[in-house]
Amino acid sequence: MKVLIATSEAYPLMKTGGLGDVCGSLPVALSQLDCDVRLVLPGYREARARIGAVKVAAQLTVDGIDGPVTLLEGTLPNTRVPVWLVDYAPLFDRPGNPYLTPEGHNWPDNAQRFALFCKIVARICTGQAQLNWNPDVVHCNDWQTGLVPALIRNTQTRPAVVFTIHNLAYQGLFPYSDFQALHLETALWSSDALEFYNQISFIKGGLVFADRITTVSPNYANEIQTPEFGCGLDGLLRQRMHVLRGVVNGIDTKEWDPARDAAIAKQYSATSLADKAQNKLALLREFDLPSDEDRPVIGMVSRLVHQKGIDLVLDALPRLIGTSALLIVLGSGEALYAGQLENWSRRLPEQIAVRIGYDEQLAHRIEAGADMFLMPSRFEPCGLNQMYSLRYGTVPIVRRVGGLVDTVVDCTPRTLADGTATGFMIENDSGTAVMDAVNRAITLYQEKNRWNNVAIAGMRQDFSWRNSGRSYLKIFEEAVADKKKR
Ligand code: ADP
Ligand code: GLC
Repeated sequence: MKVLIATSEAYPLMKTGGLGDVCGSLPVALSQLDCDVRLVLPGYREARARIGAVKVAAQLTVDGIDGPVTLLEGTLPNTRVPVWLVDYAPLFDRPGNPYLTPEGHNWPDNAQRFALFCKIVARICTGQAQLNWNPDVVHCNDWQTGLVPALIRNTQTRPAVVFTIHNLAYQGLFPYSDFQALHLETALWSSDALEFYNQISFIKGGLVFADRITTVSPNYANEIQTPEFGCGLDGLLRQRMHVLRGVVNGIDTKEWDPARDAAIAKQYSATSLADKAQNKLALLREFDLPSDEDRPVIGMVSRLVHQKGIDLVLDALPRLIGTSALLIVLGSGEALYAGQLENWSRRLPEQIAVRIGYDEQLAHRIEAGADMFLMPSRFEPCGLNQMYSLRYGTVPIVRRVGGLVDTVVDCTPRTLADGTATGFMIENDSGTAVMDAVNRAITLYQEKNRWNNVAIAGMRQDFSWRNSGRSYLKIFEEAVADKKKR
């Protein structure tokens, strides 16, 4: 099976969140299942700097684009997975975040940028990119790749198309003037195609035209068919429910392994959990917090956006500071949340520590050093941090939504008794519900043995790609078989 994964992020070339993690580790899992997997990404400045040696694989001309677009060929660092970068300096040679300006606004030409990316992916898919390789399946991920299924839908030689929703809230919506500027077929401006309330919706290309749609957990697959989580697309998703599947993400178990993690002070495992305390002390020192092992440390690593319920944490803080808990937050995103969090840490430097920024290594130290990990997300397609936390014996406190439901088992008298409990559920989106769950966690934390049992039960879960990789392969096979029938 030849699989082309089209994505705007793949760790370590580019990552702003879980999409990067997934597209950096799924290809390796698929290779182990004997797939010939290749990746294609925009040639961002950072990706070009990180990929190492590359060769020019093709030079393509595209209508409406000045000068050639180059396909650079290299490999995903530390793997043998071939990668093509779509190199076109005027659109992709920019610093930092792939979607935002350094001031935090969307790049004004995002429609043009990702439309060009999609056009090149479509050319690769249909054997029109001067490459000696035609995929059986193109696996598109999120709105940045949504035009691909639309562009190739009527092409005889097209591969089967699988479109994965990592986050339905990001849809790639742009005004009609952008639709016109992109030189797309006028037939695509229809509510049965890309038009969505008088805008062009990139994600609709995937939802309408893919042979299979997947999303990153079974629970989110159900949720997005309801008005509450459907972001206006629930009707379309209900229409397509027969091709919609939920596959929970795997994690990179080498990158996130407390027994081998070079970023942390002391490696540990389920059989040496006591060693985790050294990471806690190191983390407390790093943040100038009191070195008191008995006080529970709550960690957070998050994009600072509405989805992640940062405002709920802010609501809960006046009550949280009345407990013994210490709070450590690493995050980047909206300035309003960042400012409010920083104000709290300035007021209470002995209890609340906040680091604004993006820091992969620090994320590892927080996972290893915290006792609990807080994720009060309003919605969460899958979520990776709760799985990293479970693996690190850092008990997750999560909202009862999306993939969090599929990966965390709430502590109840029954689950504690039968040894299946791995975390705590926040029952609704309020600061009070956050505090209820945090208080339950703090209470159990006082009972060291029971607490350790919960942490160890989490560490023993299998979140590797083994099962999920196979599920993807099965979906790819279904998509190929379906396409042949047509
Ligand atoms: P999402 O993709 O919605 O942000 P996930 O839980 O799937 O949520 O994945 C988030 C990923 O991004 C995790 O690997 C997490 O560690 C990482 N991350 C988020 N914010 C930061 C940050 N400020 N610094 C380092 N890593 C971060
Ligand atoms: C998105 C979602 C997150 C998911 C990630 C990877 O960013 O918000 O829940 O884990 O994609 O699929």
